[in-house]
Amino acid sequence: MTDDRTPSASSATAPDGFPPSPGGHDPEVLRRRALDALLTARARTTALTDSVDEAELTAQHSPLMSPLVWDLAHIGNQEEQWLLRAVGGREALRPEIDGLYDAFEHPRAARPSLPLLAPAEARTYASDVRGRALDILEAAPLHEGGRPLERAGFAFGMIAQHEQQHDETMLITHQLRSGPIALTAPAPPEPTDAASLPAEVLIPGGPFTMGTSAEPWALDNERPAHQREVAAFHLDTAPVTCGAYRRFMADGGYTDPRWWAPEGWDMVREHGLDAPLFWHRDGGQWLRRRFGVTEPVPDDEPVLHVSWYEADAYARWAGRRLPTEAEWEKAARHDPATGRSLRYPWGDTDPTPEQANLGQRHLRPARAGAYAAGRAPSGAGQLIGDVWEWTSSDFLPYPGFVAFPYREYSEVFFGPGHKVLRGGSFAVDQVACRGTFRNWDLPVRRQIFSGFRTARDA
Ligand code: AVJ
Ligand code: FE
Repeated sequence: MTDDRTPSASSATAPDGFPPSPGGHDPEVLRRRALDALLTARARTTALTDSVDEAELTAQHSPLMSPLVWDLAHIGNQEEQWLLRAVGGREALRPEIDGLYDAFEHPRAARPSLPLLAPAEARTYASDVRGRALDILEAAPLHEGGRPLERAGFAFGMIAQHEQQHDETMLITHQLRSGPIALTAPAPPEPTDAASLPAEVLIPGGPFTMGTSAEPWALDNERPAHQREVAAFHLDTAPVTCGAYRRFMADGGYTDPRWWAPEGWDMVREHGLDAPLFWHRDGGQWLRRRFGVTEPVPDDEPVLHVSWYEADAYARWAGRRLPTEAEWEKAARHDPATGRSLRYPWGDTDPTPEQANLGQRHLRPARAGAYAAGRAPSGAGQLIGDVWEWTSSDFLPYPGFVAFPYREYSEVFFGPGHKVLRGGSFAVDQVACRGTFRNWDLPVRRQIFSGFRTARDA
């Protein structure tokens, strides 16, 4: 069997206490991690929903998004369905609301007109569910060989990831809202050695292990681990910056159909696009709006809020291309010294604040070249955190994919309509971000925290 982690005496327990081997999942370590992850997620959910008033919680700030109060009760409802009912065998607390919070029953634009729980009710519901979920976690048998949902605390990890994914969604809603500033955060760390970094790194050709069968909370689409052949290629050391993107704009990038996929060119013309979302020109200067603040576009920060079509067009203009998903993962995980794939670019240990910009600690990406401690063996940096990176790949199942625990998490989205994004943004928590984590969206999406880097054949 191929796998991404070969247990050995020295790596049986990573320094953070996380057991890296599939057989070595200590239920008590995982129980503590699950508790931690659930509490961290709820703290963020609370910050995102306590920072605006009731009118703003129930308002729809953009037809692209749900009212924040929908996300809040949906978080509680998913937790109820999976932790209370599926794992705990409990009766439904409020069976009549399941339909309201089923994302497939009601498109986002229709959600404000549903008879949603009011903010106070939604808060009470989510915290009632949480109290019961923690009782169930305390007693659940998390051992290997147990029921698949409980094994290694999977359902608890899945629900913590689900809440954090909605915390990222709610942060997008915050970015789309107008009105007084509701959220602030300190600036991310500055680069220390950016001037000496090469523009690109070489990833030698050869096979590597993609995906995982060992990561206990990896979601279905990340599984199983399998071998991929990847030819040698060059990859940008850092994500494409706003300054580089402005050169594309200044060179007529948005007015020349040569650079654009046909559907992308249609989008540019239909919506009159001439810059990333949230940018506007003020005399000679480009400004952007970021969580209620208008500020000059910073040249050396990774570009944010671009669609796949814009990333694809920029890459073609630059004489380059987007990396495939397999190329991205090889650059982020493959360790040529051992032939293994790492959990993260820097190794198998969980992210520290010195390694990656995650978890909404900062409400912007760090400048290109920051996070020296987070670089991969290849030398590429900022692969984890900062901005989600568009890849050229469609969202497809890996060989041997099995939907778990529900088809609507991944399987119904497989196909050519969705493009894969990798690496996570400043807005996602580490529980929902790792070297194998796969995100996906429509190629027209721009409100997400998306950027990109480019590649070329070697
Ligand atoms: C994986 C981010 C595309 O937000 O639609 C949340 C995550 N799935 N609730 C999404 C998700 C169900 C999903 N993405
Ligand atoms: Fe959801």
